[in-house]
Amino acid sequence: MQGVDPAWLPDEAFRPIGTRRTLIRGSGPLVDTVHGEVAEACGRFGGSVSRDSAAAPEPGPYDLVLELTGTEGGETYTFGRGDGRTTVTASGASGLLYGLFHVVRLGEAAFHGGDRQREQHAPALALRMLDHWDNVAVHPVMGQVERGYAGGSLFWADGRARGELLGRVRAYGRLLAACGINAVAVNNVNVHEAEARLLTDRIGEVARIAGALRPYGIRTHLSVTFAAPMVLGELPTADPLDEAVRAWWAEATARVYEAIPDFGGFVVKADSEGQPGPFAYGRSHADGANMLGAALEPYGGTVHWRAFVYDHRQDWRDRRTDRARAAYDHFVPLDGQFAGNAVLQVKHGPMDFQVREPVSPLIGAMPRTRLAVEMQATQEYTGQQRHVCWLGPLWSEVLRFRPDGVPVADLADAMVAVSNVGDDPFWTGHPLAQANLYTFGRLAWQPDADPGAILDEWIRLAFGPGPSSGLHAVLDGSWRTYEKYTAPLGVGWMVQPGHHYGPSVDGYEYSPWGTYHFADRDGIGVDRSVTTGTGYAGQYSKWWAEVYESPDTCPDELLLFFHHVAYGHVLRSGKTVIQHIYDTHFEGVEEVEAAQRVWAGLADLVGPARHARVAELHEEQLRSAREWRDQINSYFLRKSGVPDAHGRRIY
Ligand code: GCU
Repeated sequence: MQGVDPAWLPDEAFRPIGTRRTLIRGSGPLVDTVHGEVAEACGRFGGSVSRDSAAAPEPGPYDLVLELTGTEGGETYTFGRGDGRTTVTASGASGLLYGLFHVVRLGEAAFHGGDRQREQHAPALALRMLDHWDNVAVHPVMGQVERGYAGGSLFWADGRARGELLGRVRAYGRLLAACGINAVAVNNVNVHEAEARLLTDRIGEVARIAGALRPYGIRTHLSVTFAAPMVLGELPTADPLDEAVRAWWAEATARVYEAIPDFGGFVVKADSEGQPGPFAYGRSHADGANMLGAALEPYGGTVHWRAFVYDHRQDWRDRRTDRARAAYDHFVPLDGQFAGNAVLQVKHGPMDFQVREPVSPLIGAMPRTRLAVEMQATQEYTGQQRHVCWLGPLWSEVLRFRPDGVPVADLADAMVAVSNVGDDPFWTGHPLAQANLYTFGRLAWQPDADPGAILDEWIRLAFGPGPSSGLHAVLDGSWRTYEKYTAPLGVGWMVQPGHHYGPSVDGYEYSPWGTYHFADRDGIGVDRSVTTGTGYAGQYSKWWAEVYESPDTCPDELLLFFHHVAYGHVLRSGKTVIQHIYDTHFEGVEEVEAAQRVWAGLADLVGPARHARVAELHEEQLRSAREWRDQINSYFLRKSGVPDAHGRRIY
């Protein structure tokens, strides 16, 4: 698209296909998409593409055969090489599309070497979804995209679904398919007035967006308000057990499917941060979710019910209430009560996407409930797409964590990320934040993949071979670098209230949000042990509960999440807590400076527009990292009175 960064699908990535002879077998809309992709590449690079719907393979001088053998919607494909020919076979049309992008990722390597045994590729998780926190109308406080750092919405502009710009939505769908994502929710989980109407009289607009995403195998979902029957239907109640309310939802859902026959389902934030929910009627969250599940069931739709339920009007003086406990306390008693098409969507950590949190103890604690693990690609607490912070290693750690022997990836039915995309020409504001979106999609397809290999794959596709080692160096350790110069040892928060950018050590300390660090002159951290604290550590299975219970066994990086310790407490690393704080904050800034130097050396290899944008953002990252370093170090020097062992400048 004109003026828009091609991200991981530059024309060049199609050269190996576009210079060869391809045969496509099969029919249907997604096969048309595959054909269109290959035909366009051939038009550009001189190869040829034939289409053949006959039953037996045409013998012919083909280099690549893309063959659909069935009619289902399956996503699996096989890839192999024999007789000098590369073959992708799929029994479902989505599989053929994913197989095409597999060939694109391999590039020339897909066409070289001798025979290759057929490999089967299948996604580990059936649902790989992005939630857009996009508002239709610009919200007075949150703007167009809540926690969005990449411009306005891709889907909505001037209070309506984009009209002439739906080409951009299609291009977005193409990028998503190329990294394996197959579902999108098109509006914010906080459903305001205009957005509530998308469910009913404005469903036509959603249908247009769905139409632009469909050619790339992406199903559209909608965030809905639990109060819809009252807000839109003028019923006196939204009680999930009330017959009129249930009938209203059934009717509304039927109309949604008339407009969008392959509609994916609803996303619901209920009884959370002021959103309406079943508590108002003395009903459970299972009652709420199951009512929507029943409405969606005849059409094969799914309700994504979010578990982000906690008391956001807490008293900071009350040391017994612990926000980290809330999701587990609310939902575990409901295990087994949720309908088969209800998926409980759980944030990966118990708080809210801090740079470091333990894995939520709710994950694995509800074996009879379907689970979606929610990540945050938008960098609300990780630098807001002004800082380089590649989250692949964080997500991979979460997916490999074993709550009770089985990895999170195997417990989940779905993986969801809050999108980091907007109408910015680079899609994600910071051009390097594209790596987060790409990595999310690829990990959702294969959660045990090495994130570093995914990073290299993205670099190769988006930038070609030239700058690979430099780019790898800039991105690979960037999450740990960010962790070093921000809140230490898992304690979290310490951000400016409201917008959450930049340091404010006590910004949330006396607030109602349940986000405290309890620093005093002697020490810091939250005692979440069972013996002396909030009991949160006891929400884990026995093995982890024991690990987290004691400061002696708790991993350093989570120490202040689980324990209140003295500044002189010696970490497993051998350093005291206070010296760790000083050292990591100096190191973090040095690492940003080093990354900036590496980037400067890539000027000739990454294209001028990308180079300039990243260089400019690096300046801001460095300024901000220094601000973090100096505020955090000064705060703790002043509180503790313990000098830096190396005598460095602290204010
Ligand atoms: C965070 C974020 C909100 C968002 C909420 C959610 O609290 O700051 O903007 O609405 O998460 O996930 O629902």
